[in-house]
Amino acid sequence: MMPDTAHRADRLRQVFAYHQATKHQFRAYARGPGYLDWATQPDPFRRYAGARLIALETIPPTAEPLYDAVFSQGQMPTPAPVNLLSVSQLFYDSLALSAWKSAAGTRWALRVNPSSGNLHPTEGYLLCGPVDGLGDQPMVCHYAPREHGLEVRAEFGLALWKALSSSFPEHTFFVGLTSIHWREAWKYGERAYRYCMHDVGHAIGALSIAAGGLGWQMRLLDDLGSDELALLLGTFQEHPAEPEAPDLLLACVPAHQAPQASGLPADAVRSFTTLAWQGTANRLSPSHLDWGMQDIAAAVHKPHGTGEYAPFTEPPAAWALETRPVSLRQVIRERRSAVAMDGQTRLSRDNFYHLLYRCLAVPGALPFRALPWKPHLHLAIFVHRVDDLPSGLYLLVRDAAQTEALQKALTQADRWQTPRGCPEQLPLYCLIEADVRAAAREISCHQDIASDSCFSLAMIAEYERPLERYGPWFYPCLYWEAGMIGQLLYLEAEAAGIRSTGIGCFFDDPTHEVLGLSAPNFQDLYHFTVGGPVEDTRLTTLPAYADG
Ligand SMILES: Cc1cc2nc3c(=O)[nH]c(=O)nc-3n(C[C@H](O)[C@H](O)[C@H](O)COP(=O)(O)O)c2cc1C
Repeated sequence: MMPDTAHRADRLRQVFAYHQATKHQFRAYARGPGYLDWATQPDPFRRYAGARLIALETIPPTAEPLYDAVFSQGQMPTPAPVNLLSVSQLFYDSLALSAWKSAAGTRWALRVNPSSGNLHPTEGYLLCGPVDGLGDQPMVCHYAPREHGLEVRAEFGLALWKALSSSFPEHTFFVGLTSIHWREAWKYGERAYRYCMHDVGHAIGALSIAAGGLGWQMRLLDDLGSDELALLLGTFQEHPAEPEAPDLLLACVPAHQAPQASGLPADAVRSFTTLAWQGTANRLSPSHLDWGMQDIAAAVHKPHGTGEYAPFTEPPAAWALETRPVSLRQVIRERRSAVAMDGQTRLSRDNFYHLLYRCLAVPGALPFRALPWKPHLHLAIFVHRVDDLPSGLYLLVRDAAQTEALQKALTQADRWQTPRGCPEQLPLYCLIEADVRAAAREISCHQDIASDSCFSLAMIAEYERPLERYGPWFYPCLYWEAGMIGQLLYLEAEAAGIRSTGIGCFFDDPTHEVLGLSAPNFQDLYHFTVGGPVEDTRLTTLPAYADG
């Protein structure tokens, strides 16, 4: 074997081993601290001390645009000019605080993007040219959610910006994401890397949909390697605080522009090493335990270049859904996780089908248009309370070309029956008719939210083949897709007047057994539940910002 191929094979084995070792089993949870060490609880806010802070505007949610409009290309708002107000709106609707909560003398912040354990490992960045009201110089900024401001980490000349953005439409800017794995590892140990990548997926979903509200689209720059991302975002610099691992860069362009194929010129990217980087990263905890986050991050390190992606041969057909009188920004900013479900609320069958259709990667539709590859995740749905639909296990096939492979793999299915009233655009099948509440609760770490809801689900990924085809770097990408589906479920539930919750705690192989999956080619990556919430009346809610 060539050294490069051998190295790739080694890293792939490492990824498979990490995935296997971080499964929760009935007999033992994945390795973690097992208790919360409050003395080392990480600060939820990274700041770069000494970097200039640009205050962004807080903008109360507006009635328009309507939530459903941003999913339909014909109804998308016209692209907003790129200026202080629109950039403020983008961050306010994606990564900002959404509220403060308080109980028994402590208070904590919630954000527009959800996060496992509310630990928020994801950091946001803006890389832009001169922007009206924001700055005359091109710059790299770190987003500070508590302040709703941008910390200027580096400024650079117009010539470099022009070189960087020359193959993109006018008014393009870039948004980057990084992860501080320690934040999740502090509570969850080895499994934490998975949660960090779910959170990145939620953030991509949040950014894409917020951009849609401004008539813009987000597109992943998939040719960039991990080292290039670290250069562009300034996280390549060594410092004694917790490291930020670079995840990705998204190009933000007007929604009607054709997707961008070419990337950023290598010599322009290299010159970011020589910028005068400002600010010192704050330390989040006084001491740390090593849960192997750097090892898995090294195994999935991405080289420069894109994959030869398998074509999406059978995309879903268009289905014109009704436009409800529901404000996009209200849905976005009022999204919350249900901490308990009422065990009573029922969802109408039409609303159920509507919501599932949104989870499909319809060409050109939000948020999945941000990703250049075909969908790899399918939804195994435990239906508990949907009007006119028998309880049971259903499957939403998100890539119809995989139907046969799934039929072979899901050996517990009694049947593959199209449910009553199911529109032809929705590849949904009933596999088992039964009361599946106990099974749903058990496989989701015995959490009642999975059985007291209208439905809960497991996201089943095509796993081994894409990783073998593209390489170990694709492992986090599967979680990004899971997080994006999750973000959509959160917003769809909110728009339908109910709630949902992401479920990162689930028993992997027991879920596979329930479905009859024995080979590792398909793996369960994330659970979700959607239903009628029970409010926690012990908590007080305070506004996110003094002025908004
Ligand atoms: C990846 C992920 C995994 C989660 N896992 C669970 C879970 O297993 N059980 C649960 O009750 N909530 C879970 N949550 C919900 C979080 O606790 C919630 O997002 C966080 O507390 C912030 O609250 P908010 O979503 O209302 O803003 C998860 C959320 C995410 C994004």
